[in-house]
This record gives sequence, structure tokens and C-alpha cells, in this order.
Amino acid sequence: MAEHLHARIEFDPRFTVAEVPDRLFGSFVEHLGRCVYTGIYEPGHPTANADGLRGDVLDLVAELGPTMIRYPGGNFVSGYRWEDGVGPKEDRPRRLDLAWGTTETNQFGLGEFMKFCRAVGVEPNMAVNLGTRGVQEALDLLEYANHPGGTYWSDLRRSHGDEDPYGIKLWCLGNEMDGPWQIGQRTAAEYGRIADQTARAMRMIDPGLDLVACGSSSRGMPTFGEWEAEVLANSYKSVDYISAHAYYHPGDGDIPSFMASAQDMELFISGVIATADAVGAKLKTDKKIDISFDEWNVWYQEEWEASAHAEWVEAPRQLEDHYSAMDAVVFGSLLITLLRRCDRVTAACLAQLVNVIGPIMTEPGGPAWRQTTFFPFAEASSFGRGQVLHVNADSPRFDTTKYGEVDALHSVAVANADGSVTVFAVNRDLESPLSLEVDTAALGGHGEVTCSTLSDSDPNAKNTLDDPERVTPVENKSVALAEGKVTVELPAMSWNTIRIRPR
Ligand code: AHR
Repeated sequence: MAEHLHARIEFDPRFTVAEVPDRLFGSFVEHLGRCVYTGIYEPGHPTANADGLRGDVLDLVAELGPTMIRYPGGNFVSGYRWEDGVGPKEDRPRRLDLAWGTTETNQFGLGEFMKFCRAVGVEPNMAVNLGTRGVQEALDLLEYANHPGGTYWSDLRRSHGDEDPYGIKLWCLGNEMDGPWQIGQRTAAEYGRIADQTARAMRMIDPGLDLVACGSSSRGMPTFGEWEAEVLANSYKSVDYISAHAYYHPGDGDIPSFMASAQDMELFISGVIATADAVGAKLKTDKKIDISFDEWNVWYQEEWEASAHAEWVEAPRQLEDHYSAMDAVVFGSLLITLLRRCDRVTAACLAQLVNVIGPIMTEPGGPAWRQTTFFPFAEASSFGRGQVLHVNADSPRFDTTKYGEVDALHSVAVANADGSVTVFAVNRDLESPLSLEVDTAALGGHGEVTCSTLSDSDPNAKNTLDDPERVTPVENKSVALAEGKVTVELPAMSWNTIRIRPR
């Protein structure tokens, strides 16, 4: 029989880590598989609006609550000509997309993306191509997007029906330029130089931009650390963020290590911060470079690698992972890490939004539904707003091959503006339930408490087209507040949102 575990946490709303930045709850739309076509965009779908955006997807995106969306890639951007995607649709060229082996019709482009951002009320985050292109094309795109009018590119935008400039503030200077899979991969010195040149030229058009230099594609890259140091040595003064990307999966079936994936994310974050701060120290500047964790998720990558090339078809089913209850718990733990480190991770994007390793799935001409990972993101985006608090935790530990001993309880507390406190807590133990005690003395010890829990007796249970609501969060009736303490039972492998409203 599984052992019953006990853990305890305490916090004080006076002791804060940082305010949760709005950009922490970003997501990502790439021209990849069915993320755009039959994902967010499907003219002719019964719910589509006049712009061809699927109404059922817009509703689910609103419920999910992303704050910012990165576009148009990803690996796709490194071979993309942005001009192909603007102007009359009948004139737009069909092109080979070398990144994913497909044909790109260009029926969706920058103007359609901006309509999507306005429809769901999110900030756009635009990537420029520094793979096959360079400074000039980035400047042309910026002028098209943000200049009010009276010049070639800005007047072209107006002639395409968008009188007002888009005002895009956040820009990625390329994508994963350290990766051998990237079209136009560069060395750190080459990339650092072109990132700096592009950033400085873009700031001549608009000094107020927020610019992201590419960091490592994962902590496992052979150049991790050296890459950040050299890129930032070249571009520290001209950029604001360095990116980080991380995807997790159980690989060889090592589930305990998979449950503890957030350990890798934490080490990744602290390594990048140490490296960036070392460059800043050498430059004798007090400017800090923050992390844009602009791709993170669970991704069963090896399944995709087995069927990589798509024979130049349009919008095939690529990277369509179906997430289990267990995946949602690991995913929630990654969200907890981002919140805990939001003092320096001030932007992040769940990769991706729809169909492609997404929290939302669609059927062409058919329904849309929520994957298991939808729920932790929606709850964190709704209730994880305000000040992240310092938490003292006392947790039992379990052993993992990759990370040694780790805490079974992984948690964060956020003081919300209305005076309540939300605790996100994951029980990472595979088999044992955990009794959690939350000391609420610093909140006055009185009030109301609720808890929502996502777990399943079958860790591999998933939501599917045929059974779209198999796994959903449920009210956890074990939660209670008495004698200044919240107590709650967290099932094995569970994601939990505990809301404490002091009286
Ligand atoms: O999100 C899928 C892919 O993962 C992105 O295109 C790329 O940037 C990363 O390798």
C-alpha cells in the first residue's frame, strides 16, 4: 500500500519575490502543422467569423487566458518572407516550407495575425528572420508594421486596409540560431553580431522596442552557457531579453525524472541569469537582461522525429501530442517554476497554442476541445496574478535518476490584488497522496478556502475527440481552514489550485 506523505508550507504577504509580469502567460502560434490552418484559421468552418477565425477556438483561447502570442515561428521563421503573407490573398505565393517539409499557402499572414490578437486581446510578439535574411528585411517589416504612414512600407500596409500602425513592441531577433536544424544556423559570434546590428537599426525606427536575443535551444545544447556569454558580449547594450527554450518528455520511460522536469528548468534559468549577469558585470553596467522563456512545454519529441518530413503537403497533422493527466501535472510544475522565477523570467510562451503540442485541439469542420494541459494554464493565468511570495516548505523527498532527491511537493504562493492568496501545488509523487498543511497565521488565520484538483486514477487518461471531458479539474472537498491552518489532501500525481480568502 502507498505510504501517506505529509508536507507543510508557510508564507507572509509582506515578503515578496516579484510582481507577476503580464507577459509570463504568453503562448505561441507558428506556421506549423495545423496550428494556423484549421487551428485558429478556417474560413468555411461553421463558427468562423468574417476574418476566417474559428469562433469556437477564439472562445477557448479567451478561457485559456494567454496575454501575449509569439508569431510566426519557431523554425518556420528562419526561411520566411513576411511580404508573402500580406496584401490580396489571391496574389500570395505558395512556397516550400523547408523547416517542416510542407507547402505554405500564405493565406494567413501578419494582418490576419493582428486581427487574431485583437480578437482575443493579447499582445503580439513578432519574430524576424535572421536565418536566410538580415537587417534590411527586419527594418522593412518593422516599418510596415509600426510606422504611421507616408513611406513605402507603411503606405503599403495602409493600402492593405490597415490604416493604423500595429504598434508591435516585443520582437524576437530570429529563432534558435544555435541549432543545427535551423535554416541559416550561425555561430555565437556571428549571431551576436547580427542580433546587435539588427537591434540597433530597429531602435533607429523605434527606440522603445523590447528585443529578445536567441539563447540556447535547450540546456542540453553542447554550447549552452558559452552561447549566451558570447551572444550577450556582442549585444548586451542593444537587447532586453535572452531567450530560453525547453521541452520535456519521459524519453526512456523514466517517470520519476519526468515528474521532476522543473528541476531542469530551474537550473536552466539560474544558469542563464548567472551568465547574463557575468557579462553585465564585466561591462560595469547595472542594466539587467531578463529571460524570455519563449518556448516551454511537454513534447513527446521522439515520436515526431520518427515521422519528420511531410512531403510538401498543406497543413498536415504534425506534432499533435495528446496529453495525459500525468503530462498536465508536469506542465503545472513548469508553470510553478516560471512563477517562482518571475523576478527574472519576465516573458514566457507556452509552445504552442492550438493542435501543435497545444492545450486546444480542433477537428477540421468539427469541434474544438481542451487538452489536460489547458487547465493548469487557465488557472495560473486567472489566479496567478499579483505578488509572488517567498514560501518556506517542508516536504518529503523522492529519488530520481536525473536530478537526485527532489521534493514531492512543488508549490508557489501568489498574493492577489483582492487580498486573497492562491497556492499552486503539485504532488509529484507517483503513488502516494500527500496531506498538505498551509500556515495562514500571516493572513490572520480566518477566512474561506477552496481547492480545485486535477488528477486521475489512470495517469495516462486523456481528453479526445470522442471523450473531450475525460480529465477535468474537480472541487477538492478535503480542503478545510481551522485553527489558522489550511489542510488539504493532494492525490498522487496531482495539480492543485488552493484559493484562500481571508476574512
Ligand atoms: O515548437 C516547435 C519547435 O520547437 C519550434 O519551431 C522550434 O523553435 C523548436 O525547436
